Amino acid sequence: MTVIERTRADMFPGLLTPDGVRWHYLDSAATAQKPNVVIDAVARALGPDYATVHRGLYARSADMTLAYEAARRQVAGLIGGAEHEVVFTRGATEAINLVAQTWGIANLKPGDHILLSMLEHHSNIVPWQLIRDRTGIVIDVCPLTADGHIDLDAAERMLTPAHKLVAFAHVSNVLGSVLDVRRAVALAHHVGAKILIDGCQAVARLPVDVAELGVDLYAFSAHKLYGPTGIGALWARAELLEAMPPWQGGGSMIDRVTFTETTWAPAPQRFEAGTPAIAEAIGFAAAARYVLGQGLAAIHAHETALVAKARAALGRINAVRLFGPEDSAGIVSFTLEGVHPHDLGTILDEENVAIRAGHHCAQPLMADLGVPATARASFGLYNDETDIAALVRGIERTLRIFA
Ligand SMILES: Cc1ncc(COP(=O)(O)O)c(C=O)c1O
Repeated sequence: MTVIERTRADMFPGLLTPDGVRWHYLDSAATAQKPNVVIDAVARALGPDYATVHRGLYARSADMTLAYEAARRQVAGLIGGAEHEVVFTRGATEAINLVAQTWGIANLKPGDHILLSMLEHHSNIVPWQLIRDRTGIVIDVCPLTADGHIDLDAAERMLTPAHKLVAFAHVSNVLGSVLDVRRAVALAHHVGAKILIDGCQAVARLPVDVAELGVDLYAFSAHKLYGPTGIGALWARAELLEAMPPWQGGGSMIDRVTFTETTWAPAPQRFEAGTPAIAEAIGFAAAARYVLGQGLAAIHAHETALVAKARAALGRINAVRLFGPEDSAGIVSFTLEGVHPHDLGTILDEENVAIRAGHHCAQPLMADLGVPATARASFGLYNDETDIAALVRGIERTLRIFA
């Protein structure tokens, strides 16, 4: 059975309109629809299995604690990490803020540099600007190649021993370009810098193994991985995580509290203050099991084939300008001459096609591309050629309306 045969609409209730018609959902890079196995796992965790974790002395709480920690193990396993290296966060945004506020404050001093890239999502830019304003570091920006990859030759020329961190996206949420992570790691480590990878768009589209890639820190969200909102993860190399100070204080993250002094729990609990997102963690693990069951290599091949077909079909329309590389991972950004992406998005909605239109939380990249916005079609494992055909029909209708 192919990926698509296994993921028919009845397994993803969100892929049907209220009239029971298949929705051409091409916005998985914003958030992915959920399979029933994830919805059921969350419902069970909120229903018959529900109890708090880490404190209850009754059996259900002990069971839930085991399930929550098993979820951590499964999420770690998805990216080839160990469970004690995974901190549950609200999402990739919070994971990057955690690194900035803890590792950043502890390790960065005036005059230090960090290297970001031109294609970063705002969540891998703004946390560093907040830290820059507190520490006096300098943020350098690596340019892109003509086809929209982070230009690692330029990074090699830019990096110096003053750089303490390189923070790059694994897959661009706008261009779909895939970073050569191994080379980026080698370049960062060569100058003694740590490397943080924003894996938000990668984990749902490619097999990822943090140990094999050699990265130091890796951030991602569950909701782009067919899991629930409100949860994500930071993976960090054990010795790095153990050395990071806490950031939010409260229950669960302490060892002992008095009014004169508090000592901390070991990582990862030290970074999870308060009652955690229990049902969401269970759903996150169900999503990780689901994509592993489908096979990330198969998902990648499926989405790569769809990207090739979509780029070919869009490329035949004269008014279309395509962005990003030919081999982008699951994401196709484009503009339509004479039509604002928002107008296109609105007309496509009438055609039962959902795309994203706007700056995609990547305003510096839009400025670099010289456009205020793009339209973006992004694929998930449930998309097929009928979705591309519907997109093309919608674009042709839009062009007729605007002619
Ligand atoms: C590349 C990238 N990084 C970070 C984020 C932020 O993820 P979240 O909003 O789930 O925290 C996104 C979400 O769009 C993204 O695409």
